[in-house]
Amino acid sequence: MSKTPEKKSGDPETTGHEWDGIQEFNNPLPRWWLWIFYATIVWAVIYSIMYPAWPLVHSATAGVLGWSTRGQVQQEMVEFEEANAPWNAKLVETPLDDIAKDPELQQYAVNAGGAVFRTWCAQCHGSGAQGAKGFPNLLDDAWLWGGTLDEIVTTVSYGVRNEESDDAHYSEMPAFGEILEPAEITQVVQYVMSLTGAQSDDAAAQAGKVVFEDNCVACHGEDGKGDITQGAPNLTDAIWLYGGDEKTLTETVTYSRFGVMPAWENRLTEAQIRAVSSYVHQLGGGQ
Ligand code: HEC
Ligand code: HEC
Repeated sequence: MSKTPEKKSGDPETTGHEWDGIQEFNNPLPRWWLWIFYATIVWAVIYSIMYPAWPLVHSATAGVLGWSTRGQVQQEMVEFEEANAPWNAKLVETPLDDIAKDPELQQYAVNAGGAVFRTWCAQCHGSGAQGAKGFPNLLDDAWLWGGTLDEIVTTVSYGVRNEESDDAHYSEMPAFGEILEPAEITQVVQYVMSLTGAQSDDAAAQAGKVVFEDNCVACHGEDGKGDITQGAPNLTDAIWLYGGDEKTLTETVTYSRFGVMPAWENRLTEAQIRAVSSYVHQLGGGQ
């Protein structure tokens, strides 16, 4: 440390600290900076009184305004529902066939229905409604239980083969493993394959036609085109719920299938059911 130089009048005030001839000035903080600093302190005190602020063991001080993020979301949801209420009322009042005639109402139904679909239906039917094995594709115009808006509303409201609704669609294909000889199953499978023009054994398919007439036409129809009153699929359109290859068909005929679709009458509002049905109806295959 060198010797501190003599202080002359007019020199800025220093703190007295000095290293190698470099001295530390003792300038006052700028006014504007100080005032902003005081203002932030006042702001923080007021804020922590008005709003939730200080952590407690299980929650935090509530703040005199009673504001909370949860409350805000609830408030926004109430406002949202109030805004939609007239539309939902109109959707429920309008006869199903007239919904599509009102472009604005149809637009609302399709938008709201799309949201319902993504929340409640996509996990089974796929996010684009394209379906998966055992879960029907809702984009095509092949319908198990009918593709009019009215029929879709019925299917969605009550579901299929569930135990939740007494009005659920019900039908049961027998497990033919207990009814037919293995050879007959092989034959009828060949016949079913021939219906879509898939490669099949002619002689077996010929014999299978007889097995089909004796066992299958009551549900799938003389021509194999299915029956929507029983949810029996069309076997001639090459659109398969479970699969059209020999192995899958043998499995289906031997053990049968029992596709279950939940009922929505108690989970969704009438307006939501109509909205999601309108959404499904306009996807491409609506009748
Ligand atoms: C747990 C899975 C599951 C969920 C969730 C589900 N579905 Fe389904 N859905 C099915 C199955 C399985 C079938 C086919 C039933 C059968 O084999 O007849 C089906 C059939 C349908 C059909 C009839 C298709 C036809 O060809 O006639 C419609 C329409 C439908 N679902 C719409 C919906 C809508 C809309 C939702 C949401 C609100 C929904 N589903 C939610 C499993 C589901
Ligand atoms: C009592 C009515 C009934 C009878 C009889 C019946 N079926 Fe079915 N069949 C159905 C129903 C209903 C389904 C749909 C099952 C489901 O969705 O879970 C079905 C589904 C099928 C499927 C699946 C189609 C696909 O898209 O994956 C095949 C294949 C089939 N039946 C073939 C037959 C054959 C072959 C016979 C005669 C040996 C037969 N069924 C007799 C009602 C019947």
